[in-house]
Amino acid sequence: MPSLVQSLRDDFDAYMLPDDPGERDAFLATHGAEITAVVTSGTSGVDAGLMTALPNLGAVVTYGVGYDTTDIDAAAAHGVSVSNTPDVLTDCVADTAVGLMIDAMRQFSAADRFVRAGRWPVDRMYPLTRQVSNTRVGILGLGRIGRAIALRLSAFGCAISYHNRHQVADSTYTYVASLEELARNVDVLIVAAAGGDGTKGLVNREVLDALGAEGYLINIARGSVVDEDALVEALTAGRLAGAGLDVFAHEPQVPEALLAVDNVVLLPHAGSGTVETRAAMESLTLRNLASFLQTGQLVTPVPMPTAVTA
Ligand code: 8YV
Repeated sequence: MPSLVQSLRDDFDAYMLPDDPGERDAFLATHGAEITAVVTSGTSGVDAGLMTALPNLGAVVTYGVGYDTTDIDAAAAHGVSVSNTPDVLTDCVADTAVGLMIDAMRQFSAADRFVRAGRWPVDRMYPLTRQVSNTRVGILGLGRIGRAIALRLSAFGCAISYHNRHQVADSTYTYVASLEELARNVDVLIVAAAGGDGTKGLVNREVLDALGAEGYLINIARGSVVDEDALVEALTAGRLAGAGLDVFAHEPQVPEALLAVDNVVLLPHAGSGTVETRAAMESLTLRNLASFLQTGQLVTPVPMPTAVTA
């Protein structure tokens, strides 16, 4: 976010960590001990190695709600606090999930390509697609974003069920203890779970097969939650009806095989990418940084694991 980078430079005299490994090592050797706070994004994060190279680090301030790229155990061990930008992006990411679901099922992007390619006058009718309203939707991860998706889809008459680490006490949506069982009983599975080791590869071959040849997968969370090879195989072999994907295992790389098929909608990790939401994320990021530098406290800290003695 260029305006965030500018504010960090102008108002906080921030350094930019070089990308080049050689330059990075030289930078860290010279400046590592000066750094007390790092501002990063959900896609970059601070790993254990970088944390060790910053002996006086006190805070990792994340521009984004996901912080799976930051080593949270290493942060706890080093006494480093971590913040993210919750709530401010919930609506936009939930809108994106619903948009992807509609696009994947009604094939708007593919139909747009059909019109642009001049195929309408030639082929005449576009093949029939699938109804969105009144379908059965399963949500993996009923956190803030998962609930915002459920709220929107309830207005579409969808029957909502979910799988989560734990049943959500104040939720009226149907809890399903097994992800595979959830997938078997819905038309659309929406991934809204946090990334990281705890959710890696949760949507595996068995789950995709349970969703089946009539099922759709939507992912607005993290590519790591889905076994991408299994997903590509299922989509290209017709073992899954379609998918809407905002996130991938190796961004910005998208599996070549998906570029050639019409039953998948591909977005460049743009879920929170609106002027309004990105401005709110930027503002909350700067508030976290300013607060940490002035008081030692973050505005929106993430829960930390119990510190392990370093
Ligand atoms: C990105 C996101 O962080 O908030 C998240 O977790 O995935 C996105 O909002 C955003 O693109 C900034 O990197």
